[in-house]
Amino acid sequence: MIENSIPEIVAERREGVLLLRIERPDKKNALTQAMYTALTAALDAAERDPAVRVVVLTGSGDSFTSGNDIADFLAAPPTGEGSPVFRFLAALRQFAKPLVAAVNGVAVGIGVTLLLHCELVYARAGARLQLPFVNLGLCPEAGSSLLLPRLLGYPRAAELLLLGEPFSAEQALEWGLINGVGADAGTTLALALDKAQRLAAQPAEAVRLTKALLKRAEADAIRETVDLEGGYFIAQLASPEARAALQAFATRRKPGG
Ligand code: COA
Repeated sequence: MIENSIPEIVAERREGVLLLRIERPDKKNALTQAMYTALTAALDAAERDPAVRVVVLTGSGDSFTSGNDIADFLAAPPTGEGSPVFRFLAALRQFAKPLVAAVNGVAVGIGVTLLLHCELVYARAGARLQLPFVNLGLCPEAGSSLLLPRLLGYPRAAELLLLGEPFSAEQALEWGLINGVGADAGTTLALALDKAQRLAAQPAEAVRLTKALLKRAEADAIRETVDLEGGYFIAQLASPEARAALQAFATRRKPGG
Protein backbone atom coordinates (compact mmCIF):
# COMPACT_ATOMS: atom_id res chain seq x y z
CA MET A 1 0.00 0.00 0.00
CA ILE A 2 1.50 3.35 -1.00
CA GLU A 3 0.46 6.17 1.27
CA ASN A 4 0.54 9.91 0.87
CA SER A 5 3.21 10.95 3.36
CA ILE A 6 3.07 14.70 2.67
CA PRO A 7 0.35 16.73 0.93
CA GLU A 8 2.72 17.93 -1.81
CA ILE A 9 3.17 14.41 -3.21
CA VAL A 10 -0.12 12.72 -3.96
CA ALA A 11 -0.15 9.02 -4.79
CA GLU A 12 -3.16 7.54 -6.52
CA ARG A 13 -3.61 3.95 -7.67
CA ARG A 14 -5.43 3.25 -10.92
CA GLU A 15 -5.35 -0.53 -11.25
CA GLY A 16 -1.74 -1.48 -12.11
CA VAL A 17 -0.70 2.15 -12.52
CA LEU A 18 0.54 4.38 -9.71
CA LEU A 19 0.06 8.08 -10.44
CA LEU A 20 2.41 10.38 -8.48
CA ARG A 21 1.34 14.00 -8.63
CA ILE A 22 3.47 16.93 -7.48
CA GLU A 23 1.08 19.32 -5.73
CA ARG A 24 2.69 22.62 -4.83
CA PRO A 25 1.23 24.77 -7.57
CA ASP A 26 1.72 28.12 -5.79
CA LYS A 27 5.50 27.54 -6.05
CA LYS A 28 5.31 26.01 -9.54
CA ASN A 29 5.84 22.60 -7.89
CA ALA A 30 9.41 23.44 -6.84
CA LEU A 31 10.84 20.38 -5.09
CA THR A 32 11.86 20.61 -1.45
CA GLN A 33 13.91 18.03 0.43
CA ALA A 34 10.73 16.64 2.01
CA MET A 35 9.20 16.25 -1.46
CA TYR A 36 12.24 14.37 -2.80
CA THR A 37 12.09 12.11 0.25
CA ALA A 38 8.38 11.41 -0.29
CA LEU A 39 8.95 10.71 -4.00
CA THR A 40 11.81 8.34 -3.18
CA ALA A 41 9.67 6.51 -0.61
CA ALA A 42 6.84 6.21 -3.14
CA LEU A 43 9.19 4.81 -5.81
CA ASP A 44 10.72 2.34 -3.32
CA ALA A 45 7.25 1.18 -2.25
CA ALA A 46 6.14 0.91 -5.90
CA GLU A 47 9.21 -1.19 -6.67
CA ARG A 48 8.31 -3.65 -3.91
CA ASP A 49 4.57 -3.81 -4.63
CA PRO A 50 3.84 -6.40 -7.34
CA ALA A 51 0.42 -4.84 -7.94
CA VAL A 52 2.13 -1.67 -9.24
CA ARG A 53 3.27 -2.30 -12.81
CA VAL A 54 3.96 1.25 -14.02
CA VAL A 55 4.49 4.66 -12.39
CA VAL A 56 3.26 7.90 -13.95
CA LEU A 57 4.73 11.21 -12.80
CA THR A 58 2.85 14.46 -13.29
CA GLY A 59 2.48 17.97 -11.85
CA SER A 60 -0.42 20.26 -10.99
CA GLY A 61 -1.66 23.73 -11.86
CA ASP A 62 0.33 25.16 -14.75
CA SER A 63 3.57 23.36 -13.87
CA PHE A 64 5.19 19.96 -13.99
CA THR A 65 7.97 21.17 -11.69
CA SER A 66 10.18 24.27 -11.65
CA GLY A 67 13.00 22.11 -10.32
CA ASN A 68 14.78 22.22 -7.01
CA ASP A 69 13.38 24.73 -4.54
CA ILE A 70 15.85 27.61 -4.73
CA ALA A 71 15.32 28.66 -1.11
CA ASP A 72 16.23 25.09 -0.12
CA PHE A 73 19.38 25.25 -2.26
CA LEU A 74 20.44 28.32 -0.27
CA ALA A 75 19.34 27.20 3.20
CA ALA A 76 20.11 23.47 3.11
CA PRO A 77 22.14 22.53 0.04
CA PRO A 78 22.76 18.84 -0.65
CA THR A 79 26.02 17.56 0.80
CA GLY A 80 26.42 14.07 -0.66
CA GLU A 81 24.77 10.90 -1.87
CA GLY A 82 22.66 10.65 1.30
CA SER A 83 20.98 14.00 0.56
CA PRO A 84 17.31 13.77 -0.48
CA VAL A 85 17.85 14.96 -4.07
CA PHE A 86 20.61 12.43 -4.72
CA ARG A 87 18.66 9.63 -3.09
CA PHE A 88 15.75 10.51 -5.38
CA LEU A 89 18.02 10.46 -8.45
CA ALA A 90 19.38 7.05 -7.41
CA ALA A 91 15.84 5.67 -6.94
CA LEU A 92 14.82 7.03 -10.33
CA ARG A 93 17.91 5.65 -12.08
CA GLN A 94 17.51 2.19 -10.55
CA PHE A 95 13.72 1.90 -10.83
CA ALA A 96 13.06 -1.41 -12.58
CA LYS A 97 9.46 -0.82 -13.73
CA PRO A 98 8.42 1.55 -16.52
CA LEU A 99 8.23 5.26 -15.74
CA VAL A 100 5.89 7.49 -17.74
CA ALA A 101 5.79 11.30 -17.44
CA ALA A 102 2.89 13.63 -18.19
CA VAL A 103 4.48 17.08 -18.41
CA ASN A 104 1.42 19.24 -17.84
CA GLY A 105 3.31 22.56 -17.99
CA VAL A 106 6.56 24.29 -17.00
CA ALA A 107 9.50 21.91 -16.48
CA VAL A 108 12.81 23.33 -15.28
CA GLY A 109 16.10 21.79 -14.17
CA ILE A 110 15.48 18.38 -12.64
CA GLY A 111 11.96 18.70 -14.09
CA VAL A 112 13.62 18.09 -17.46
CA THR A 113 16.53 15.86 -16.46
CA LEU A 114 14.24 13.37 -14.69
CA LEU A 115 12.50 12.86 -18.05
CA LEU A 116 15.72 11.30 -19.36
CA HIS A 117 15.08 8.39 -16.96
CA CYS A 118 11.49 7.78 -18.09
CA GLU A 119 10.49 5.25 -20.73
CA LEU A 120 7.64 7.38 -22.14
CA VAL A 121 7.19 11.16 -21.93
CA TYR A 122 4.20 13.22 -23.05
CA ALA A 123 4.00 17.01 -22.73
CA ARG A 124 1.29 19.63 -23.07
CA ALA A 125 1.40 21.70 -26.24
CA GLY A 126 3.33 24.89 -25.57
CA ALA A 127 4.85 23.60 -22.32
CA ARG A 128 8.08 25.45 -21.55
CA LEU A 129 11.17 23.41 -20.69
CA GLN A 130 14.51 24.77 -19.53
CA LEU A 131 17.90 23.61 -18.24
CA PRO A 132 19.25 26.77 -16.56
CA PHE A 133 22.02 25.10 -14.53
CA VAL A 134 24.85 27.22 -15.94
CA ASN A 135 22.72 30.38 -15.69
CA LEU A 136 22.52 29.65 -11.95
CA GLY A 137 26.26 29.00 -11.64
CA LEU A 138 25.62 25.24 -11.45
CA CYS A 139 26.31 22.26 -13.71
CA PRO A 140 24.14 19.48 -15.18
CA GLU A 141 22.85 16.67 -12.97
CA ALA A 142 20.97 13.36 -13.20
CA GLY A 143 23.37 12.10 -15.87
CA SER A 144 22.14 14.74 -18.30
CA SER A 145 25.68 15.69 -19.38
CA LEU A 146 25.93 12.16 -20.81
CA LEU A 147 22.34 11.45 -21.80
CA LEU A 148 21.47 14.72 -23.55
CA PRO A 149 24.32 14.70 -26.10
CA ARG A 150 23.63 11.01 -26.82
CA LEU A 151 19.95 11.73 -27.36
CA LEU A 152 20.05 15.09 -29.11
CA GLY A 153 23.56 15.28 -30.56
CA TYR A 154 26.38 17.36 -29.13
CA PRO A 155 25.62 20.80 -30.64
CA ARG A 156 22.01 20.89 -29.44
CA ALA A 157 22.85 19.47 -26.01
CA ALA A 158 25.68 21.99 -25.60
CA GLU A 159 23.34 24.83 -26.58
CA LEU A 160 20.60 23.76 -24.17
CA LEU A 161 23.01 23.21 -21.27
CA LEU A 162 25.38 26.15 -21.79
CA LEU A 163 22.90 28.86 -22.74
CA GLY A 164 20.03 27.50 -20.65
CA GLU A 165 17.38 29.04 -22.87
CA PRO A 166 13.79 27.76 -22.72
CA PHE A 167 12.47 25.43 -25.41
CA SER A 168 9.01 24.15 -26.16
CA ALA A 169 7.32 20.75 -25.97
CA GLU A 170 7.02 20.85 -29.76
CA GLN A 171 10.79 21.32 -30.13
CA ALA A 172 11.39 18.53 -27.62
CA LEU A 173 9.19 16.24 -29.72
CA GLU A 174 10.96 17.17 -32.95
CA TRP A 175 14.34 16.47 -31.31
CA GLY A 176 13.25 13.06 -30.00
CA LEU A 177 13.36 14.04 -26.33
CA ILE A 178 9.71 13.16 -25.75
CA ASN A 179 7.18 10.73 -27.24
CA GLY A 180 4.20 12.97 -27.88
CA VAL A 181 2.38 16.25 -27.31
CA GLY A 182 -1.16 16.58 -25.94
CA ALA A 183 -3.40 19.55 -26.75
CA ASP A 184 -3.84 20.51 -23.09
CA ALA A 185 -2.90 19.22 -19.63
CA GLY A 186 -5.94 16.92 -19.40
CA THR A 187 -5.32 15.37 -22.81
CA THR A 188 -1.63 14.93 -21.97
CA LEU A 189 -2.38 13.11 -18.73
CA ALA A 190 -5.02 10.97 -20.47
CA LEU A 191 -2.46 10.06 -23.16
CA ALA A 192 0.16 9.16 -20.54
CA LEU A 193 -2.32 7.12 -18.49
CA ASP A 194 -3.56 5.28 -21.57
CA LYS A 195 0.01 4.26 -22.51
CA ALA A 196 0.71 3.37 -18.87
CA GLN A 197 -2.37 1.12 -18.73
CA ARG A 198 -1.23 -0.58 -21.91
CA LEU A 199 2.22 -1.13 -20.41
CA ALA A 200 0.61 -2.44 -17.20
CA ALA A 201 -1.29 -5.00 -19.29
CA GLN A 202 1.90 -6.33 -20.89
CA PRO A 203 3.56 -9.41 -19.32
CA ALA A 204 5.36 -8.00 -16.25
CA GLU A 205 8.56 -10.04 -16.37
CA ALA A 206 9.05 -9.41 -20.10
CA VAL A 207 8.61 -5.67 -19.47
CA ARG A 208 11.12 -5.74 -16.58
CA LEU A 209 13.70 -7.64 -18.61
CA THR A 210 13.27 -5.38 -21.64
CA LYS A 211 13.70 -2.21 -19.58
CA ALA A 212 16.83 -3.71 -17.97
CA LEU A 213 18.21 -4.60 -21.41
CA LEU A 214 17.42 -1.15 -22.82
CA LYS A 215 19.32 0.44 -19.92
CA ARG A 216 22.16 -2.08 -19.63
CA ALA A 217 24.72 -0.67 -22.05
CA GLU A 218 24.71 2.76 -20.42
CA ALA A 219 23.98 1.88 -16.79
CA ASP A 220 27.56 2.06 -15.47
CA ALA A 221 28.36 5.21 -17.41
CA ILE A 222 25.19 6.89 -16.14
CA ARG A 223 25.96 6.00 -12.51
CA GLU A 224 29.51 7.31 -12.87
CA THR A 225 28.27 10.50 -14.52
CA VAL A 226 25.62 11.10 -11.85
CA ASP A 227 28.33 10.78 -9.16
CA LEU A 228 30.76 13.05 -10.98
CA GLU A 229 28.11 15.68 -11.70
CA GLY A 230 26.96 15.46 -8.07
CA GLY A 231 30.41 16.33 -6.74
CA TYR A 232 30.76 19.33 -9.06
CA PHE A 233 27.17 20.40 -8.35
CA ILE A 234 27.70 20.41 -4.57
CA ALA A 235 30.95 22.36 -4.94
CA GLN A 236 29.35 24.88 -7.31
CA LEU A 237 26.39 25.44 -4.94
CA ALA A 238 28.86 26.90 -2.44
CA SER A 239 30.59 29.06 -5.08
CA PRO A 240 30.14 32.84 -5.15
CA GLU A 241 28.73 32.70 -8.71
CA ALA A 242 25.99 30.24 -7.78
CA ARG A 243 25.12 31.93 -4.49
CA ALA A 244 24.78 35.27 -6.24
CA ALA A 245 22.51 33.82 -8.95
CA LEU A 246 20.34 31.89 -6.48
CA GLN A 247 20.07 34.90 -4.15
CA ALA A 248 19.05 37.03 -7.12
CA PHE A 249 16.11 34.69 -7.78
CA ALA A 250 15.17 34.36 -4.12
CA THR A 251 15.11 38.11 -3.52
CA ARG A 252 13.89 39.27 -6.91
CA ARG A 253 11.02 41.70 -7.14
CA LYS A 254 8.28 41.01 -9.63
CA PRO A 255 7.37 43.83 -12.02
CA GLY A 256 5.00 46.14 -10.12
CA GLY A 257 5.78 44.31 -6.85
N1 COA B 1 12.23 27.46 -6.13
C1 COA B 1 11.56 28.20 -5.25
N2 COA B 1 10.48 28.93 -5.58
C2 COA B 1 10.08 28.90 -6.86
C3 COA B 1 10.74 28.15 -7.83
C4 COA B 1 11.87 27.39 -7.43
N3 COA B 1 12.54 26.61 -8.26
N4 COA B 1 10.11 28.32 -9.01
C5 COA B 1 9.08 29.16 -8.78
N5 COA B 1 9.06 29.51 -7.49
C6 COA B 1 8.11 30.40 -6.81
C7 COA B 1 8.37 31.86 -7.11
O1 COA B 1 9.36 32.38 -6.24
C8 COA B 1 7.00 32.45 -6.85
O2 COA B 1 6.82 32.54 -5.47
P1 COA B 1 6.05 33.82 -4.82
O3 COA B 1 4.68 33.83 -5.47
O4 COA B 1 6.03 33.53 -3.36
O5 COA B 1 6.88 35.01 -5.22
C9 COA B 1 6.05 31.36 -7.35
O6 COA B 1 6.80 30.16 -7.35
C10 COA B 1 5.57 31.61 -8.77
O7 COA B 1 6.70 31.75 -9.63
P2 COA B 1 6.85 32.93 -10.69
O8 COA B 1 8.31 33.08 -11.02
O9 COA B 1 6.13 34.14 -10.21
O10 COA B 1 6.06 32.32 -11.94
P3 COA B 1 6.34 32.57 -13.48
O11 COA B 1 5.19 31.92 -14.18
O12 COA B 1 6.61 34.01 -13.75
O13 COA B 1 7.68 31.76 -13.81
C11 COA B 1 9.20 29.89 -13.73
C12 COA B 1 7.74 30.35 -13.60
C13 COA B 1 9.23 28.42 -13.34
C14 COA B 1 9.68 30.08 -15.16
C15 COA B 1 10.09 30.73 -12.77
O14 COA B 1 9.48 30.73 -11.47
C16 COA B 1 11.49 30.20 -12.62
O15 COA B 1 12.32 30.39 -13.48
N6 COA B 1 11.75 29.53 -11.47
C17 COA B 1 13.08 29.07 -11.13
C18 COA B 1 13.37 27.77 -11.85
C19 COA B 1 14.77 27.31 -11.56
O16 COA B 1 15.72 27.99 -11.81
N7 COA B 1 14.85 26.12 -10.94
C20 COA B 1 16.08 25.54 -10.48
C21 COA B 1 16.75 24.77 -11.54
S1 COA B 1 18.25 24.02 -10.96
